[in-house]
Amino acid sequence: MVSYKDLGLVNSRELFKKAVTGGYAIPAFNFNNMEQMQAIIQACVETKSPVILQVSSGARKYANQTILRYMAEGGVKYAAELGYPIPIVLHLDHGDSFELCKSCIEFGFSSVMIDGSKLPYDENVRLTKQVVDYAHQYDVTVEGELGVLAGVEDDVHSETQQYTRPEEVQDFVGKTGVDSLAIAIGTSHGAYKFKPGQKPEIRLDILHEIEKKLPGFPIVLHGSSSVPQDIVAEINQYGGKLKAAIGIPEDQLREAAKSAVCKINIDSDSRLAMTAAIRKVFVEHPEEFDPRKYLGPARDKMKELYIHKVVNVLGSNDKA
Ligand code: G3H
Ligand code: 13P
Ligand code: ZN
Repeated sequence: MVSYKDLGLVNSRELFKKAVTGGYAIPAFNFNNMEQMQAIIQACVETKSPVILQVSSGARKYANQTILRYMAEGGVKYAAELGYPIPIVLHLDHGDSFELCKSCIEFGFSSVMIDGSKLPYDENVRLTKQVVDYAHQYDVTVEGELGVLAGVEDDVHSETQQYTRPEEVQDFVGKTGVDSLAIAIGTSHGAYKFKPGQKPEIRLDILHEIEKKLPGFPIVLHGSSSVPQDIVAEINQYGGKLKAAIGIPEDQLREAAKSAVCKINIDSDSRLAMTAAIRKVFVEHPEEFDPRKYLGPARDKMKELYIHKVVNVLGSNDKA
């Protein structure tokens, strides 16, 4: 058993408390490789923002859980080396079983998500409570989910959206003891969140209903990439073929962050930034074959994106 406390990590409890009262949200950025992790840490140290480093099942398959855990530990030391030791949470994204959550907790994660959102309500309650009971013994925080996000990702797949029902949230939180709740209000995973011609809009009215039922309780938004159109254009300019990629307008996320939303998940935007930078080098310098010559610019572009998110969308700068 490795305790996250010995690794210099923190759980999300205090961070969320301050975020809810302060009207901002903590960034939850997924990472799969060293360049993403470095860019996240550099951006959050520069902006003095707390951060949640997220590991998905896809990331565990791609990079190996051990390597990612050590990378997060490295991130803690790297932040200190950069001169400002920010609070860092290591979080399991979309955990789908008790065993997986338990193994992450025993391996040094400080926070886990148990995603029972596609299960019948009572099964979601039972599974979530089982994870909470285990996690709380080790002071690890737990995120649950109610409602189903539409969208397709490697390991997170659902064609249909089911908005969270505000009338269920009190019962769910009461019965499970979760520390935060992910809700479905029109966000979705990936880079194609709305159809062309459709107004990109999330249901802030449902969020406010939920907020009334759970005053001061930390709410989480998944699928919150904004799919910056300048980055999409850059990818296509350098040979990419992304058609009609549309994300969540940043002003709507800013609005959500000012209320009960205290964790906003962003992954796809970082993938887009990385892709744009690499494509540009490949087209402009086809003679190049040193990975540092294209992964370096990719890291810089992701860092720029993360800084923009922290300052202009989440409002978590200077909160570390
Ligand atoms: O919620 C989904 C995240 O973007 C992770 O995606 O399963 O492809 O790593 P992934
Ligand atoms: P995006 O695909 O919108 O970046 O969402 C990521 C996410 O929700 C990770 O859990
Ligand atoms: Zn998600």
